[in-house]
Amino acid sequence: MSSRSEASAISSSRTRPSSAALAGSLDDGSGLGLTVLKTRFVLICVALAVLSIAASARLSWPGTLMAVVVAAIAGWVTSAAISRTLREQIEATNRIAEGDLRARAPTFAPAELGRLGRALNHLAERQAAQIGALTSNRNELGAVLDSVADGLLATDSSDQIAHLNPEAARMFDAPRDAVGRPFWEVVRDVTVSDLMNQVKNDGRPAEGALVLAHVSPRRDLEVRISPKGDPATGWGGAVLIFRDVTRLHRLEAVRRDFVANVSHEMKTPLTSIQGYVETLQSGALEDPEVAKEFLEKIDRNSKNLGYLVSDLLVLSRVEAGGIQVEAEPFGAFTVVSEATAMCADKAREKGLSLHVSPGPRDALVRGDRDLLVRALVNLLDNAIQYTKSGGKIDVGLAKHDSRAEVTVKDTGIGIPPNELERVFERFYRVDKARSRALGGTGLGLAIVKHVAERHGGSIRVVSEEGKGSAFTLSLPLAS
Ligand SMILES: Nc1ncnc2c1ncn2[C@@H]1O[C@H](COP(=O)(O)OP(=O)(O)OP(=O)(O)O)[C@@H](O)[C@H]1O
Ligand SMILES: [Mg+2]
Repeated sequence: MSSRSEASAISSSRTRPSSAALAGSLDDGSGLGLTVLKTRFVLICVALAVLSIAASARLSWPGTLMAVVVAAIAGWVTSAAISRTLREQIEATNRIAEGDLRARAPTFAPAELGRLGRALNHLAERQAAQIGALTSNRNELGAVLDSVADGLLATDSSDQIAHLNPEAARMFDAPRDAVGRPFWEVVRDVTVSDLMNQVKNDGRPAEGALVLAHVSPRRDLEVRISPKGDPATGWGGAVLIFRDVTRLHRLEAVRRDFVANVSHEMKTPLTSIQGYVETLQSGALEDPEVAKEFLEKIDRNSKNLGYLVSDLLVLSRVEAGGIQVEAEPFGAFTVVSEATAMCADKAREKGLSLHVSPGPRDALVRGDRDLLVRALVNLLDNAIQYTKSGGKIDVGLAKHDSRAEVTVKDTGIGIPPNELERVFERFYRVDKARSRALGGTGLGLAIVKHVAERHGGSIRVVSEEGKGSAFTLSLPLAS
């Protein structure tokens, strides 16, 4: 809708009944009024002329007649001009009253008529300016409401929808013609209906929570309903604001789980340490054999606690974005050689053959070298831990399109297909008891995943139970 037609829509919707009445009265009365005015004017002119002639009594009859005729013509012409000006001013007034704010009344007319025309034109100009300002305010407000991330719905005094923004329409899958429908036809929720009744009764805003039943996965919303205008002067409708809190709820659940997991993981070694210490205090210390064994157990458990704290610190640092990107890109092979050098002894001790294929030297990556080495060590650590003695571990580096890919392949126990997705979750282990017994925290692969993502890369796995696994760390090449 153009701003002009909008302006006329605003103006005509507010003034239509009175303008019709006004137009009618002006049209009906004007014809008769002007005719009478015209006739009277001519007659007065003629009478004056005759009177002046009679008074002077010096003119001959033909002269008198000429004077009368001239006076009558002059009177008629003047009255016709006034009558036309008035008619045009009435027409302009009618058009302005009906919303055509471009209509202008004639101003080239004598005295009061000219002033009347100018006053009418001034009125039309001011009204056009005010309606223009109102329209632009309304459009601006509409744009603001439409861009709000929350769902917003306003109802009128009869609980019909007066406005709903695109987000509210999306949330409730509202039909295109939702405006004008009863709000409960669109928001089919008992909580919202109850809250609405409460707001109507109390005249105060109310808040509540609801679940969108028709969408999957589940979405949690919070709603706040405020009465429109002054409730003391009667129900004028309400404004409903819907906020999607699904993400917030999910994050809260993740945080709760995390705290529970960390507490649980810490409790296990702590309880062991406390148990051994108490046993030693109550006499076991006297037996050197037992004391030695218990001290070793205390040592192992405290080391496990240390690994856990260290892994948690790394994870929180990576998650918080605290990575130290080196100024210059470096060869991915340096990461491979550093990590394999760190794990070589452990692999040999377990009777595993570790084979490293030299990759391309020009596969340059950018990022935090220490973290990348740590991620690769985690993958190698797993390969060593979950491969029986006599097995084989292959480490390879390759360049694929714009990525450097490091693969750690083992001939170990493998991972069941239904667990493959979950091994990257924090604290997830396929065999909890076994992993814990080996000092595992269940955070190793979660760290790898976060390190990869912080570097714009990814981690993937293919595995077959009983045959082995291959983890591939993929990193973008430095441009
Ligand atoms: N190469 C592998 N072969 C078989 N299973 C593996 C392999 N790598 C990981 N897994 C499985 O995935 C789980 C999660 O691995 P992750 O490295 O995160 O934890 P972890 O090894 O148990 O402990 P840590 O945090 O000390 O590394 C392991 O418990 C194990 O069940
Ligand atoms: Mg591990």
